[in-house]
Amino acid sequence: MTQLHEATAFIKDKLQVTPKVGLILGSGLGMLADEIENPLKIKYDQIPGFPVSTVEGHAGQLVIGELQGVNVIAMQGRFHFYEGYGLDAVTFPVRVMKQLGIEKLFVTNAAGGVNESFEPGNLMLITDHINNTGQNPLMGPNDAEQGVRFPDMSQAYDRKLQAVAKAVARDLSLDLKEGVYVWNTGPTYETPAEIRMLQTVGGDAVGMSTVPEVIVARHAGLEVLGISCISNMAAGILDQPLNHEEVIETTEKVREDFLGFVKTILSRLA
Ligand code: HPA
Repeated sequence: MTQLHEATAFIKDKLQVTPKVGLILGSGLGMLADEIENPLKIKYDQIPGFPVSTVEGHAGQLVIGELQGVNVIAMQGRFHFYEGYGLDAVTFPVRVMKQLGIEKLFVTNAAGGVNESFEPGNLMLITDHINNTGQNPLMGPNDAEQGVRFPDMSQAYDRKLQAVAKAVARDLSLDLKEGVYVWNTGPTYETPAEIRMLQTVGGDAVGMSTVPEVIVARHAGLEVLGISCISNMAAGILDQPLNHEEVIETTEKVREDFLGFVKTILSRLA
């Protein structure tokens, strides 16, 4: 049995219902999983084949249950390329969630604001992305059972889900921004010159995650919704250094907005 089938069988064995929506919760956003009803929690290090999370602020577990009437499986904590994991490991949970039966994947992250009209604390609907790393999780032999060799990325972020998100933002009077998320490997934050470059090429937010998971999700035929929490303005926009504590603090401040937003989107899918 492959690692993928082993991990899937291990989790499936504990489930009574099929999860329909996968949630990947970024830095400081893991509290959404605390709202899941009748939660089944499985620590990553218990799952055969699963990588183990190391970053602080990442609990490192799957939380499976019902949220707003939808059967969900949430990743409380994700794996980052900068931690030293290969992209196979970073995206392994997406493959597992697909095997478990999800049809939609919500990806969330904390990101730096590249678009100068944004403010820390804004939520941004990801409409598209730029892979600025030269890395791709699909490099290597293609497993045709998982997806095609050359996946289309012209609508990586599902238009119907974006429309639902925008309608929810209107109804909640949320000042939802929209834009293009740029993936850099990190772990350094960017230089001001790099941020000026990203502004020129059409980036609106920048972060160290999400894109590999979205590439694999699209390969697997999942519908993707992406939400960034703008935790800071990117380097050089304000005359101040960046730090991880600020990123976590801001995401905690927007926690109510974020929770209400994602929960209402889910309720409209129920
Ligand atoms: N740059 C890259 N990643 C980030 C940032 C940033 O400014 N903020 C949060 N994650």
